[in-house]
Amino acid sequence: MRTITSNQRSRSRILYFWLLILLSIFLLAFQGPVWKVPASSAAMKNPVKYAGENTIIAKGLYTKHCKSCHGKSGEGDGTKAEELKTFPGDFTTDEFQDQSDGAIFYKIRAGRDEMPAFDKKISEEDSWLLVHYLRTFQ
Ligand code: HEC
Repeated sequence: MRTITSNQRSRSRILYFWLLILLSIFLLAFQGPVWKVPASSAAMKNPVKYAGENTIIAKGLYTKHCKSCHGKSGEGDGTKAEELKTFPGDFTTDEFQDQSDGAIFYKIRAGRDEMPAFDKKISEEDSWLLVHYLRTFQ
């Protein structure tokens, strides 16, 4: 009697394990992996003013470094987007715009997979300008 019970118990544990794996695959497939941003980065405030010449510089930076993948109006439909495995995201959505400036800044600097890291390519100030520019897509 004892052995049957413990066998049954371990069988249901294995079943439970596989159910969890399946559920995780399901969630990843439909939502994409969540891009975690450290809380200290997310809380950062944009120190750069967005006015006058800065708006022109921001547009230039976006055109040079980002447009090929993210598209002219930020919808993720740039000329290079078709070659990507990952959808670059749609900057016009509430889901994107609801993020803090700090979170967007962090993602630009850190990059992930097909999204290049820009921490060595552009200055912090220019990255903050880009955060402002991405806000114009809402
Ligand atoms: C080679 C193509 C490519 C270029 C160039 C590129 N990106 Fe991306 N970007 C991506 C991809 C792909 C993702 C999605 C990455 C992921 O989810 O793992 C992404 C994601 C992002 C995100 C996060 C989107 C979200 O939903 O939170 C931001 C912000 C971003 N990019 C900004 C920029 C900026 C600003 C530039 C230019 C300085 C740039 N990217 C240049 C491909 C690119």
